[in-house]
Amino acid sequence: MPLKSLIRTIPHYPKQGIQFRDITTLLKDPVGFRMVIDAFAQHYANQPIDKIAGIEARGFIVGAALAYKLGVGFVPIRKSGKLPAETIGHDYALEYGADRVEIHTDAIAQGERVLLVDDLIATGGTAEASVALLQKLGSVVVGCAFVINLPDLGGSQRLADAGLVPYSLCEFE
Ligand code: PRP
Ligand code: ADE
Repeated sequence: MPLKSLIRTIPHYPKQGIQFRDITTLLKDPVGFRMVIDAFAQHYANQPIDKIAGIEARGFIVGAALAYKLGVGFVPIRKSGKLPAETIGHDYALEYGADRVEIHTDAIAQGERVLLVDDLIATGGTAEASVALLQKLGSVVVGCAFVINLPDLGGSQRLADAGLVPYSLCEFE
């Protein structure tokens, strides 16, 4: 079954007018979940990566599984106030609101090659803010991986324009 058909769309969630692309239906399918991780692992197989940074919340699920598969470490990028040690943060706008992401200041060593992972890119605000944090800590962001791209919202183009390399497994209008 194609990966895209395992993703459920919830109309008007969390706000009127938003078509929410829900990956829980993909994750609960053992073949679908494995397809996602294997596709990313194959895509990045020949690229040196020191760590995966996963964005809360669904980027943790995909990012941690991929880190295990690639044999690299995982670091969390979390929403405001969730990380216990010293952090740096970045504010950003969302498709449906505003938010802030944070990372531990000791999560990444200077010069480490980091792959950013999330379930979805829409406006790109979350990914851009996360890249800003990773770069502030001195990491080299070697790629940005998403299960879903919503190209009409311009995020993947924004990342590409900034010299980053977005990669996604499927797209929705
Ligand atoms: C979703 C998604 C991405 C972000 C993408 O997270 O998981 O992190 O939106 O949107 P953007 O490209 O416009 O920034 P959400 O804000 O729903 O937060 P959650 O994972 O904590 O539920
Ligand atoms: N994050 C931003 N827009 C989204 C959407 N349409 N579906 C799921 N997550 C999102």
